[in-house]
Amino acid sequence: ASEGTATKAQKQVLNIAHRGASGYAPENTMAAFEKAVEMKADMFELDVQMSKDGELVVIHDTTVDRTTDGTGSVKDLTLEEMKSLDAGSWFSEAFADETIPTLGEVLDEYKGKSGILIELKAPSLYPGIEQKVADELTAHHLDKPENEKIIVQSFDHESVQKFHDILPEVPVGVLLGYNPEGISDEQLESFKKYADYVNPSKSMIDASLIERIHDFNMLTHPWTVRDRESANFLLEVGADGIITDYPDYVDPRP
Ligand code: G3P
Ligand code: CA
Repeated sequence: ASEGTATKAQKQVLNIAHRGASGYAPENTMAAFEKAVEMKADMFELDVQMSKDGELVVIHDTTVDRTTDGTGSVKDLTLEEMKSLDAGSWFSEAFADETIPTLGEVLDEYKGKSGILIELKAPSLYPGIEQKVADELTAHHLDKPENEKIIVQSFDHESVQKFHDILPEVPVGVLLGYNPEGISDEQLESFKKYADYVNPSKSMIDASLIERIHDFNMLTHPWTVRDRESANFLLEVGADGIITDYPDYVDPRP
């Protein structure tokens, strides 16, 4: 790029590995988080839910059926039951030793090594999960923004507000699925009261939405990139971070 157009290319865009580097290793496992770090992603995203016995577990679906060799709802299984499951073979036999991690295990291993974007997944199924996540972050000294790059987000905006009231110094984001009506200024005004990030589906994104989010003093990390074209588009329109299954598709740095 010529000197006149260098600014956009030089902007630091956060490369965020979705459920870890889930294009290359089974989602939401230590192998996927390790791969994200190896690939030099700035952060990885994970989904947190709660076991029957109140432990914070890292898994996307509300059942274990798709990503393990077991069956049943996360909320009806104990941690011990979930720990006995194979969380890697569905992706490839090479990952047969992977198990469902707890949030504590992930923080123990990756605190100081990677930013972590924590999604509270289906929190209405797990009363009290906001306090438990806050307690786990506090136990790991991750309750102050200067300590590490930690962001908490959810599609459930009440849950985001609840978390924010408990740990106001940890940045939070609202997730938004595709809505043909777009995102109104009224919505942005209400998000701004507590949120630092507005993270819509990439299908909602254009340069003007990003500008409006910035005008309301928030940042945006759209999701989920699975091809190079979308990565290039989001870099071009000025996303602040990009949530991707393939961290190597999203590296604007020379
Ligand atoms: O981080 C955003 C993205 O993870 C939201 O969708 O279904 O992959 O949790 P989902
Ligand atoms: Ca997620």
